[in-house]
Amino acid sequence: MKHLLSLVLCLSFLTASAEVRLTVRADEVKCAVSPTLYGLMTEEINFCYEGGLYSQLLRDPQMREREGDPRQRNRRNAPLRFWQWNDSIKTWTNQGFWGIAVRPSTEYRGKMKTDGKAVMSVGLRSTVDGTVYAQAIVSASDAGWLDFTLNTAANIKETKDVEFFLQFTGDTRCGLNYVSLTPVSKKQVTVKSDLYRTDLMDMLREMHPKFLRFPGGNYLEGNRFSERFWWQRTLGPVELRPGHHCPWGYWSTDGMGLLEFLCWCEEMGAEPILGVFAGYTLQGDYVTGKALNGFIEEALDEIEYVIGDVSTEWGARRAQDGHPAPFKLTYVEIGNEDFFDRSGSYAERYTMFYEAIKAKYPQLEIICTDSPDKMRRLARDWKVEDRMKLDIIDEHYYRGYKDMLRQCGMYDKYDRKGPKVFCGEWATREGDPTTNMKAALADAAWMIGMERNSDIVIAHCYAPLFVNVNPGGMQWKSDLIGYDALNSYGSPSYYAQCMFAGNLGTEVVKMECDNMPRMQVEKDTLDQLYYTATRDKATDKVFVKMVNAGETSIDVTLSTIGKKVSGKALQTTLVADSMNATNSITNPRAIVPLTKKVKGSGKMKIKLPARSIEVIELQ
Ligand code: AHR
Repeated sequence: MKHLLSLVLCLSFLTASAEVRLTVRADEVKCAVSPTLYGLMTEEINFCYEGGLYSQLLRDPQMREREGDPRQRNRRNAPLRFWQWNDSIKTWTNQGFWGIAVRPSTEYRGKMKTDGKAVMSVGLRSTVDGTVYAQAIVSASDAGWLDFTLNTAANIKETKDVEFFLQFTGDTRCGLNYVSLTPVSKKQVTVKSDLYRTDLMDMLREMHPKFLRFPGGNYLEGNRFSERFWWQRTLGPVELRPGHHCPWGYWSTDGMGLLEFLCWCEEMGAEPILGVFAGYTLQGDYVTGKALNGFIEEALDEIEYVIGDVSTEWGARRAQDGHPAPFKLTYVEIGNEDFFDRSGSYAERYTMFYEAIKAKYPQLEIICTDSPDKMRRLARDWKVEDRMKLDIIDEHYYRGYKDMLRQCGMYDKYDRKGPKVFCGEWATREGDPTTNMKAALADAAWMIGMERNSDIVIAHCYAPLFVNVNPGGMQWKSDLIGYDALNSYGSPSYYAQCMFAGNLGTEVVKMECDNMPRMQVEKDTLDQLYYTATRDKATDKVFVKMVNAGETSIDVTLSTIGKKVSGKALQTTLVADSMNATNSITNPRAIVPLTKKVKGSGKMKIKLPARSIEVIELQ
């Protein structure tokens, strides 16, 4: 009885003090917000470029992928995998990447290489009823390259149930070595604009990325030396690039090559974070000492291609490729995930790359891909401890909802005297192919932890960015943006990113919580509320970010001290009615942020719905 009484008293005490008070101290600056805080990470995975951002519509334009192991590209007798030949009507067909997007009033530019004389009818037609959407006659008078154009009528409906056909007429017939087809983009921003799928580019711009980390990821390393991102082989006319096997199990034509990555940055107003191959492959092949010099040269040349002026060898090559102006480059990353390096050779490889890059380009900042403790240990083994400098460490975190929430305060405790952090891959892995609301809540809480510690976390990016949602399109679960040949959509995690990156001040200011609500997650008791605030020096706006990661609403009194709050405020909310709720290719906008005007004041009462992410902009 006595125990019951104290339990009742205790519960009533908890209820009575349940009001959660958040206080923003807008004039107490904790640190500057890193200008490169929010960015993107990308590599060829989940049909991210091929069948994704890269707008080439036909699969295997080089006509080399054979049935069975696509690496056996020289088995000329084996049938092609993605091109079908019908002997009775002398027709080649290609169904693209799970269909081909056809839209009204659209021009498509094609290119082919023939080995002789022939007359062909080429076009796009329905795989459902054979309706022809666009057609042209192409005459090859000799061996060589031919361009052709297809145009769709204004009155057709957009569809992806489409195949490309190439039918020889009469008795004519010739061999083909290459056939490609790309829709012509209506707005040309860079020399490469036509190569990026416009709906996906629009979605990326909404994320306000300040950088693009490329080309990986595992894709940088490759399974073997010959399958690394061999950047020189990705230059020049796309039809002449050899392509290579991607470690995620399919063929890359390398249509998305180094220049395409750089122009992609330019189109988004982002700068590259360039990963250079560091002499270690995913299969564990590696080189050290003198044998590394070739790869170091390769990296120095690559940097010259990016930032060298036209008087340099590789700057001149960039100009010849259509882009005389150098690109902006601040960060270069040496390798990828070398904490997985089984050889223990990274300390030497890293140090050799670091010294060579710094000697030629002292202005560049170098990113290391293993932890400081391990690097120091390895440095002793390799006798490079006096030379090794660790400026920025790339950390990767893939976790479930509970672990992500549990680790949100991790950077509060980081050593301020140690290297800076680039969180170059992270994601809450809940839901597939794209994430659900449960993931978005933990993502948002994790981003709050990074934003609040922006003095040490200089940049971060979610991974993977893209997934083609067709069966066989996904190699890695819990992705940010999904698509098929025609449509695309953002996951709740995508919208959390847009909300946060789009409402970023220039200074992190102090914020406190009284009465933190706690919640039970499995056997753990965790904070239910996550928060941070920034102020923008130029506009004097304050941005308050809050996440209610639990299943009950929270009543918050938000006080702002140190700033005169005008009556105008904006409140943007992302909320869902269950943790598993999500967006999909068939229901793309089930969960999207809503912005409304609210009355701003120095003391605001706000109800944070269960499972919600909020951004309040105070003017
Ligand atoms: O993002 C998927 C993969 O995860 C990346 O290629 C690799 O760097 C990491 O292991």
